[in-house]
Amino acid sequence: MAASTSPSLSLDIHLGAEDLRAELERDVKSGLGGARKSLPPKWFYDTVGSKLFEEITELPEYYPTRAERALLELHAADIAVLARSDTLVELGAGSCEKTRLLLDALAASGEVRRYVPFDVSADFLKASAADLSRDYEGLQVHAVVGDFLCHLDAIPGAGRRLVAFLGGTIGNLVPTQRRRFLAALRGSMGPSDHLLLGTDLVKDVARILAAYDDAAGVTARFNRNVLSVVNRELEADFVPSRFDHVVRWDPYARWVEMHLRSDRDQLVHIGALGLTVPFARDEELLTEISAKFTPAGVEAEMVRAGFTVDRQWGADHGEFLLTLAHPGSRR
Ligand SMILES: C[S@@+](CC[C@H](N)C(=O)[O-])C[C@H]1O[C@@H](n2cnc3c(N)ncnc32)[C@H](O)[C@@H]1O
Repeated sequence: MAASTSPSLSLDIHLGAEDLRAELERDVKSGLGGARKSLPPKWFYDTVGSKLFEEITELPEYYPTRAERALLELHAADIAVLARSDTLVELGAGSCEKTRLLLDALAASGEVRRYVPFDVSADFLKASAADLSRDYEGLQVHAVVGDFLCHLDAIPGAGRRLVAFLGGTIGNLVPTQRRRFLAALRGSMGPSDHLLLGTDLVKDVARILAAYDDAAGVTARFNRNVLSVVNRELEADFVPSRFDHVVRWDPYARWVEMHLRSDRDQLVHIGALGLTVPFARDEELLTEISAKFTPAGVEAEMVRAGFTVDRQWGADHGEFLLTLAHPGSRR
């Protein structure tokens, strides 16, 4: 479904309000109905959640955004020369802030015609895309609202595309999802496209945990926001303050887990589903995993999905990693 807004700014909606509601109903039924409760992290990101995430990126403890930005500042020019793209696609674009470094580098090394920010958070995406379109005269901004786990085929295919997936967002997928996602992405890409993947690296566990449990409590508010989303969308009666923000490192899976832990025995009613969900005291609801990687591990996953890695930046004792790859065999 296309909704044009101006000649240089257009919007495609592949996930409208009704689709979102149907998906949320499914996820709440399956995620809260079983013995081990969980919700997918995409439900954090209504407008309030997207703004809270932006606040998180500026916290002293949250190193990933600063580390990734520093890598882009140093290496965006190299990336642009290697990719030689005229179209930048960004999956999970959020505020589109780091994007500007890539757009500037692509413009400096050739001609960048089009930017395609793709995100599930419609209102936030519209606002970010409009800001960017105002600042980059002559750039076609074609925003797409969708779920990158289902709607990769909705991304416009024309041009030599650089598909950026930044922020370590791929770490929110469990390994089987990651495998399927990377294979689907590879299948959707043409021979002259490139993928730029941002992944957080394994490091000192205390440093990782602090990034998800900041002293000011912003991440705790972000975590509890998912309950407000379910309250609003599905007429539920979660009392967010009755759930504690809990963060834990899994040394075997090498990921951080965020949970909401019930501080008492309680019943939550999901009005729109006619569902009553019991929570025992100390019972946890898993809201996010954030996997941490090694450079070799990232390369292995990309090769398994059918990519060839051109180059990695940050691999040498860095905090964060950028990997540029293209579909198929070495050129
Ligand atoms: C961790 S934030 C990263 C934002 C930005 N790329 C950055 O690097 O700061 C994840 C972004 O992905 C979006 N997102 C999460 N799950 C998604 C999904 N399944 N499909 C599309 N977008 C999704 C969120 O709305 C959010 O903007």
